[in-house]
Amino acid sequence: MHLTLLLHLTLNHHFTLLLHLTLDHHLTLLPHLTLDHHLTLLPHLTLLPHLTLDHHLTLDHHLTLLPHLTLHHHHHLTLLPHLTLHHHHHLTLLLHLTLHLPSIFLQAISTLNSSTSSIESDSGSSDHTTTNTNSVTDRISGTGLGFTYCGACRFLAKIVVGYFRLGAPSSLLVNLLVKICYAIAYQSLSVCRGIIYQDMESLIWIIQNSPTNGEEICALLLGDRGCGEFQRSPWKVPLPPRRHSAVPPPPPHPHLDVTPTTHYTSDAESYNSTPVGHLTGPPPGHPTGPPTGYVTFGSSSPPGHLIGPPPGVVSSGSGKKVLKMLHLTDPHYDPDYVVGSNALCDAPLCCTSDSGPPKEESARAGQWGDYRNCDSPKWLLHHMLNHIITNHPDIDYVVCTGDLVPHHIWRISREENVAIMKDMSELLQQFFPSTPIYGSIGNHESFPRDSFPPPEVSEVWSKFGLQWLYDAVSERWEVMMGRPVPPSARYGGFYSILARPGLRIISLNTNYCYRLNWWVLYKSVDPGLMLTWLVVELGKAEANGEVVHIIGHIPPFYVDCFAQWGHQFSRVLDRFSHVIRGQFYGHSHMDEFRIHYGPGPDGSGRKRPVGVQYITPNNGPYHNLNPSYRVYYIDGDHPHTTRDVIDYETWVMNLTHANQYNSPHWYHLYSARRDLHLPSLQPRHWHELVQRMSRDPALFQKYFRYQVQDSDPGLAKGCDGECRHKTLCSIVDGDRLTPSRCRRGPPPPGY
Ligand SMILES: *[C@@H]1O[C@H](CO)[C@@H](O)[C@H](O)[C@H]1NC(C)=O
Ligand SMILES: *[C@@H]1O[C@H](CO)[C@@H](O)[C@H](O)[C@H]1NC(C)=O
Ligand SMILES: [Zn+2]
Ligand SMILES: [Zn+2]
Repeated sequence: MHLTLLLHLTLNHHFTLLLHLTLDHHLTLLPHLTLDHHLTLLPHLTLLPHLTLDHHLTLDHHLTLLPHLTLHHHHHLTLLPHLTLHHHHHLTLLLHLTLHLPSIFLQAISTLNSSTSSIESDSGSSDHTTTNTNSVTDRISGTGLGFTYCGACRFLAKIVVGYFRLGAPSSLLVNLLVKICYAIAYQSLSVCRGIIYQDMESLIWIIQNSPTNGEEICALLLGDRGCGEFQRSPWKVPLPPRRHSAVPPPPPHPHLDVTPTTHYTSDAESYNSTPVGHLTGPPPGHPTGPPTGYVTFGSSSPPGHLIGPPPGVVSSGSGKKVLKMLHLTDPHYDPDYVVGSNALCDAPLCCTSDSGPPKEESARAGQWGDYRNCDSPKWLLHHMLNHIITNHPDIDYVVCTGDLVPHHIWRISREENVAIMKDMSELLQQFFPSTPIYGSIGNHESFPRDSFPPPEVSEVWSKFGLQWLYDAVSERWEVMMGRPVPPSARYGGFYSILARPGLRIISLNTNYCYRLNWWVLYKSVDPGLMLTWLVVELGKAEANGEVVHIIGHIPPFYVDCFAQWGHQFSRVLDRFSHVIRGQFYGHSHMDEFRIHYGPGPDGSGRKRPVGVQYITPNNGPYHNLNPSYRVYYIDGDHPHTTRDVIDYETWVMNLTHANQYNSPHWYHLYSARRDLHLPSLQPRHWHELVQRMSRDPALFQKYFRYQVQDSDPGLAKGCDGECRHKTLCSIVDGDRLTPSRCRRGPPPPGY
């Protein structure tokens, strides 16, 4: 009811008036008024200029006066200048607004359904900590009233944009946003101040220098959650014509037909019977020593016992027939993690010294990390890396797709981010001193967080540029790869490099498409010119007979990437699907994948599954997940290599167990081909898997277990029919600007 009224106000163009209204009486009036009454009230505001300051401040006057006054629409126009002339007066009113707007919003929400606050976010493990819209959105959309939530967002966004455009003092705007943040996201003013202050300068600049409006902002902010898709104007990344010879024959089965491995003895099996005695974690505040001599991992399976690649696929001699690629992502290393601190605080990140006192024993942060909003202690990452090199001594190269820094988004700084990235890269190098590590940038690496201005706009770059970040990461990458980074890395945070003969790795900075990157509102047409650059790189690779693996942080077909960018990316994939043999991303924190459908043989439609975007689960527990890592098997160095992904395996650590017995223990959770019954990892087999899962709930439940990395809280939450439908649809509907393949029920067979 409340919300309907608010929406109506905005629809009737009264919103500029609202800016000058103390909202005290709204608060009082809304519950009692019908829509019609309210509409007749607003015009009375034209009389505000004739009132003295005292009247404004007193609620009773308004209430009494308004009904007796007549309305003249044209008076609106005279009202505003008048108000701004009386500056003090204006300020007072604005202040009132900032004080009460959030409570109106909250009240509106709670009226919708007061019993929904316990509905938790369901895709909540992803990275949208920015304003916690995630949980709020889900709370609201859990009532089936997502539309209304969108309306509320538009209302607020309109006010904010209107404020900026009117040139209201920025301190007031900051106040307003802090209050909104406080009311809908975090009950902590210092957290909200930290988050909002970071953004303010660029946000004001963007709103004043772009045609953006509330609707756009909400479409971008809410992704696919009922507010439409953000799309300012259609654009197309230019593509070279298809080479005749480039039209691929149906892909052959991978050259090496590896039989799914069956000889695993997973740690899980020997789990309970294995004594776990000497694996005590470091005491709080004593992070790790160097990798050697830290602990011996006798309680894990002895090395001989563990899997290498499947028998017969590793050749002796120089060229390896199958390469092992370790994919690390989203470690979110928190140098301030404190064991026993409060894991249930009112901030985006807990388990640190400033998380306040734990209210009860169960609120204490675990020894090895915590399922709640907590990031990774160093000794957890150290333990993982030690486990990796012990059990996979034959890693050929490492890919690390960003988000190295913790989620304490309200008190980050450039300096701290750079220091943590340095720390993390040194840690990786301790364990992989002579193995190339290819990196990409996560949305958390920048400052302000999530902010990636377009380097091609010099006016923006000179004011808000990220040169410090791109220089810092390039420096780290250079050391980790053991070779110079191409200039594009320092220009825009992306690069292309020949990793093996015929195999090119292209690292994208997909944060340019992030829906929480405000710069998208300023320039949404190929930000960073990265897609244009990508097309050139792919064209060169094609001409040279190379194939390409793409790595990046945010998956282009994930909801966090705005739809038009994802669609353009998909056009690039169409053109070069025969060149792009693998795509590896992170950011979701869950174990997921997306299928790319390309045109059929007649060159139209989205008919054939031609590509897969792998979304690798995160190294840390944030949140409700088990720490994990993944090893991909890639067709190796031999004359007929396709460089296709042949298989992968995911390893996890049961965090409940680790904390309960102070005994961290990694186990092999699954191998894609063996456990998902995939004949190969060709796109069509992933497509068939989706169809099988839509018919076979038990198979889906297995997949879901992998998706949450076998974590106890994840499994406890479960995934019902609705959730299953959503999950499967997101896999096949990655390009959100093409018709859905998933309208009702399971995806239809045979497309
Ligand atoms: C609020 O939730 C309760 C119980 O969940 C339900 O009975 C009621 O109809 C809901 N009210 C609205 C307005 O949705
Ligand atoms: C994790 O470990 C705990 C404690 O040993 C155990 O109760 C739980 O079942 C384990 N979870 C899984 C998914 O194996
Ligand atoms: Zn992350
Ligand atoms: Zn991220």
